Amino acid sequence: MSLNADWMQRDLAVLWHPCTQMKDHERLPVVPIRRGEGVWLEDFDGKRYLDAVSSWWVNVFGHANPRIGDRIKSQLDELEHVMLAGFTHPPVVELSERLVAITPPGLSRVFYADNGSSGIEVALKMSHHYWINVGQPGKRRFVTLSNSYHGETVAAMSVGDVALFTETYKALLLDSLKVPSPDCYLRPEGMDWETHSRQMFAHMERTLAEHHREVSAVIVEPLIQGAGGMRMYHPVYLQLLRDACDRYGVHLIHDEIAVGFGRTGTMFACEQAGITPDFLVLSKALTGGYLPMAAVLTTDTVYAAFYDDYATLRAFLHSHTYTGNPLACAAALATLDIFEQDRVIEANRALSARMAQACAHLADHPHVAEVRQTGMALAIEMVADKAGKVPYPWQERRGLAVYQHALSRGALLRPLGNVVYFLPPYVITPEQIDFLAEVATEGIDLATRDRVQVASGLDLHPNHRDPG
Ligand SMILES: Cc1ncc(COP(=O)(O)O)c(C=O)c1O
Repeated sequence: MSLNADWMQRDLAVLWHPCTQMKDHERLPVVPIRRGEGVWLEDFDGKRYLDAVSSWWVNVFGHANPRIGDRIKSQLDELEHVMLAGFTHPPVVELSERLVAITPPGLSRVFYADNGSSGIEVALKMSHHYWINVGQPGKRRFVTLSNSYHGETVAAMSVGDVALFTETYKALLLDSLKVPSPDCYLRPEGMDWETHSRQMFAHMERTLAEHHREVSAVIVEPLIQGAGGMRMYHPVYLQLLRDACDRYGVHLIHDEIAVGFGRTGTMFACEQAGITPDFLVLSKALTGGYLPMAAVLTTDTVYAAFYDDYATLRAFLHSHTYTGNPLACAAALATLDIFEQDRVIEANRALSARMAQACAHLADHPHVAEVRQTGMALAIEMVADKAGKVPYPWQERRGLAVYQHALSRGALLRPLGNVVYFLPPYVITPEQIDFLAEVATEGIDLATRDRVQVASGLDLHPNHRDPG
């Protein structure tokens, strides 16, 4: 038996994998990874896969990056962990100072959690708790966009709108208000992104006008709705939203878990709108993809509403055991050093242009409705009928065919339903981008033939979305 097969067998005897119907693995192998280096992952048979999705969107500077690894190693010799209630340590203080310095003006306080969904829970709870502390306890609902994804815990699911993840748990969810997304894929033919995003804001305006007295916050994935199929919109929507939240006395929560740290072309997506949200939630690339951590940044105004004598019971008594873990902070500090020292945001402009260039021909493909891009995220929407943007029926397993083809060619492309996308590590080379475009083109050609052959039913539910 090959080493790959041996690890796979041991895995399948004891593991339950995330976002997976385990029965699919009767026919579709899990890929055991022995090591990683840069953009590459290598299995036990020596086969390499270019990680085009940054391992669920976290890995920005490559696998086994010595600059991040060394920082974690030296932190290990000093302090691996200490509880953050009543105690502190240099890495968490330094990281908080640096996050406050690089995020938009007005965000002055950092609260930590240990994964993206928990960060969302913090922002939602803090927002509602703020309104209680200032004497408006009726503000308890959240406004969310259609097709959004904010994580898997119960409150995070409540503000999400990807049915596959939330439908089953409907009975447990909060009653959020859902507003149609400014998603520019759905814009009328010939309309530009800005006009469409501006027009779609009318729905938000109406909802806030009607419900603002009971609304605590609006939560959005700024510029890119990731798990919803890499759907994109114009920054003008965020400007209009900031203005409306101010007018109606409602918080604005930016979930930049997926898009923060350069993915949209600026360090944070909110910079493109020139606004400061009341809560900015960061995770994923925060630690360069090394260790789980989330940071929730907020304003002095929010902080002040909690600051009082203990007996008033206004404190935010939320905690996660690993809050502010020093190893994760060390990874984050090393990641921020790389952003600064290597002038990554500037350097990414050339890579992003190369991604556009390498995939431009796909816009003419008879089964591609759109090739869209924001910064270092590029998505290709496969359709059954190009003119009418008619999606392929989910039973036809088109995205999976691309995934399987890419694996056979040495690339990890994991489509979201019918959307093939690249969210590569920023250490990818122009030649590697060309290779990905070539593999994706072949995969899309294969997958859009009349009938496709695939090994299993992964990703095949009508609303299946990979949460990234
Ligand atoms: C926009 C967004 N919010 C929240 C989350 C949840 O983060 P986590 O998987 O770390 O809980 C994700 C994960 O993909 C995400 O893309």
